[in-house]
Amino acid sequence: MTAIEPEKRDLFPRDRQPTVRILAMPAHANPNGNIFGGWIMAQMDVAGGVVALEYAGGPVSTVAVTSMEFHRPVNVGDLVSCFARIQKVGSTSITVKVEVFAQRAHDGVLESTKVTEAVIVYVAIGKDGMPSKLPERGPDFGQYW
Ligand SMILES: CC(C)(COP(=O)(O)OP(=O)(O)OC[C@H]1O[C@@H](n2cnc3c(N)ncnc32)[C@H](O)[C@@H]1OP(=O)(O)O)[C@@H](O)C(=O)NCCC(=O)NCCS
Repeated sequence: MTAIEPEKRDLFPRDRQPTVRILAMPAHANPNGNIFGGWIMAQMDVAGGVVALEYAGGPVSTVAVTSMEFHRPVNVGDLVSCFARIQKVGSTSITVKVEVFAQRAHDGVLESTKVTEAVIVYVAIGKDGMPSKLPERGPDFGQYW
């Protein structure tokens, strides 16, 4: 198993909780043997959608991915953690920054590095399927993200 480069080791955030954690399985690999980017994007969309739904207090739809960067490959067997944090709240939209860290076992320790990040926009959806006004939330809302 390839080690994470020394300067990139142990970057895992200790001051927040990941929204999604999942093991990268062989079934998620691309023909190069690394993990398929589309699978990583799906985990990120779920993580962003969770915090957006919590904020909205109801259903949300993904309306845009305004940036997406793949910094490092993810290997089969990596523990993948998606950290989602609300960046901006509009009238009906919630912009969420999602950062993904891979943890990889090497010589008895878990090394970690940031592999991917994206900014994803969600829209609160009303019963009519149209954008719905977001509720007011206090400044402490979602502090643990
Ligand atoms: C989500 C949807 C209902 C929004 O309808 P819409 O007519 O585009 O909505 P609006 O133009 O009124 O925009 C709603 C909000 O989204 C924001 N928005 C819309 N398109 C955006 C884009 N490309 N980038 C960033 N924000 C965007 C608007 O700025 C607005 O934010 P605000 O109310 O906070 O100011 C509609 O686009 C839709 O159904 N899209 C398909 C969603 C989907 O299937 N997603 C994948 C599965 S979840």
